[in-house]
Amino acid sequence: MSKRKPLIAGNWKMYKAGPQAAELANRLKSLVSDITDVDIMVAPPFTVLEIVAEILEGSIIDLGGQDLFWEVEGAYTGEISASMLKAAGCTHAIIGHSERRQYFGETNATVNRKVRAALIGGLIPVVCIGESETERESNQTFSVVQEQLEKGLEGLGSDEVQRITIAYEPVWAIGTGKTATTGQAQEVHEFIRRRMETAHGNSVASAVRILYGGSVKPENTSDLMAMADIDGALVGGASLDADSFATIVRLAMDVVGDKA
Ligand code: PGA
Repeated sequence: MSKRKPLIAGNWKMYKAGPQAAELANRLKSLVSDITDVDIMVAPPFTVLEIVAEILEGSIIDLGGQDLFWEVEGAYTGEISASMLKAAGCTHAIIGHSERRQYFGETNATVNRKVRAALIGGLIPVVCIGESETERESNQTFSVVQEQLEKGLEGLGSDEVQRITIAYEPVWAIGTGKTATTGQAQEVHEFIRRRMETAHGNSVASAVRILYGGSVKPENTSDLMAMADIDGALVGGASLDADSFATIVRLAMDVVGDKA
């Protein structure tokens, strides 16, 4: 059996205020109550983390922040620290999402600081990397991904890298309805795993989960999940609907048996 348990993560982005978040969390909790062999995580907006944490208590669904700031505390108006996420019930933090890179000036260097802060704070970083459409068209996919990986994880020891989850999200596939083909996704996932192997050895590379993200929906989940190096999904749009997200989780669970 594959050593890696799949993780299906939902990124709610800037959607779902209080009552809608509670409704989504409640419905999701009941829909996945019988799920085994798949880890589940949702990352709601900061303002509803505690409400959602309370609802999800006792369920198998973990909670994540969509971002964090690297300082422990201080005069940083508008920012949230790892310990604040932890106190709100989070076990994970999404870091370096392409929307953060695109609209909020995040770079590989800021990603690196955030990854370190998350690890120190006891959170699992879900580090997002992926090429833009122009980069893919000019055959830069592998060099871009390699640079994001190397700089984003710069200076970390193998014991730290082992605690990280990577999300490969081709920017051109996010929220566009365009999904990478299974071949396109698998070839980048395999490349990422090889880079990890070169840097940190085989046991780290074969333990690290690499999620795919970019227009994942029930219709394409099984094919993506069947790929050898795809260990789960980071789901945006389809995670806002409890039924779709739960279906993705269930399909991922079905593939676990086939991949064994
Ligand atoms: P999408 O978003 O599923 O809506 O394409 C994925 C993501 O941004 O993580």
